[in-house]
Amino acid sequence: MKLPEIRTGRLSLRPVLEQDLTDIVRLIDDYDVAKMLTTVPHPYALSDARDWYGQTAAEGRDGERAFAIDKGEGLIGVVSCGKPDGTPEFGYWLARRYWGQGLMTEAGKAVLVWHFDCSSGEPVLSGALDENRASLNVLTKLGFAEIGPYRLSIKSRGETLPATRMKLEPETYKRISGRSHERD
Ligand SMILES: CC(C)(COP(=O)(O)OP(=O)(O)OC[C@H]1O[C@@H](n2cnc3c(N)ncnc32)[C@H](O)[C@@H]1OP(=O)(O)O)[C@@H](O)C(=O)NCCC(=O)NCCS
Repeated sequence: MKLPEIRTGRLSLRPVLEQDLTDIVRLIDDYDVAKMLTTVPHPYALSDARDWYGQTAAEGRDGERAFAIDKGEGLIGVVSCGKPDGTPEFGYWLARRYWGQGLMTEAGKAVLVWHFDCSSGEPVLSGALDENRASLNVLTKLGFAEIGPYRLSIKSRGETLPATRMKLEPETYKRISGRSHERD
């Protein structure tokens, strides 16, 4: 089953399409983006985007569940809330020129609403490098609470760095969003 299209005040969150791959390469081949992400090499080639797309498309709704973030001009980032390893994991990136406008908080909230509306209400895990204050702020604003320190292996740097593991409990989500996780 395909992912839905979700609309927010400023954004459309929609399935990633094959024609988005050139935008993904252009936008994620930015070291300031890649250096915060675990599996993204730098430099990033079209073959890397094709490999990622092939894997996420094949997994469908049982996998990463990656949404394109679209502001009306094409893909400007990706947000995902899926369970490639069995536990729902929340991840995201946004092209650099769109940072600092609250867009990831807006996109993240919409995807978490969707996730909890159509899931059994399991907690969602995420995490960010300790140096990535913007990302830790996004998670905190979305209701994630700290579980504790861990380390993240960052492909573009060839290093494992200190990070903070975070978790969003369904009860916290319901309180913050004012929604039930039950399907309407
Ligand atoms: C992390 C990222 C998605 C944030 O996107 P964004 O749309 O700018 O995020 P938002 O505007 O919704 O929220 C960011 C918050 O962090 C704050 N912030 C930004 N940079 C900061 C910094 N260097 N130090 C402290 N706070 C910072 C912002 O002020 C904002 O908080 P506020 O709303 O309380 O003012 C974006 O920077 C990005 O894509 N970075 C590269 C990839 C990445 O890090 N992905 C996440 C991996 S865990």
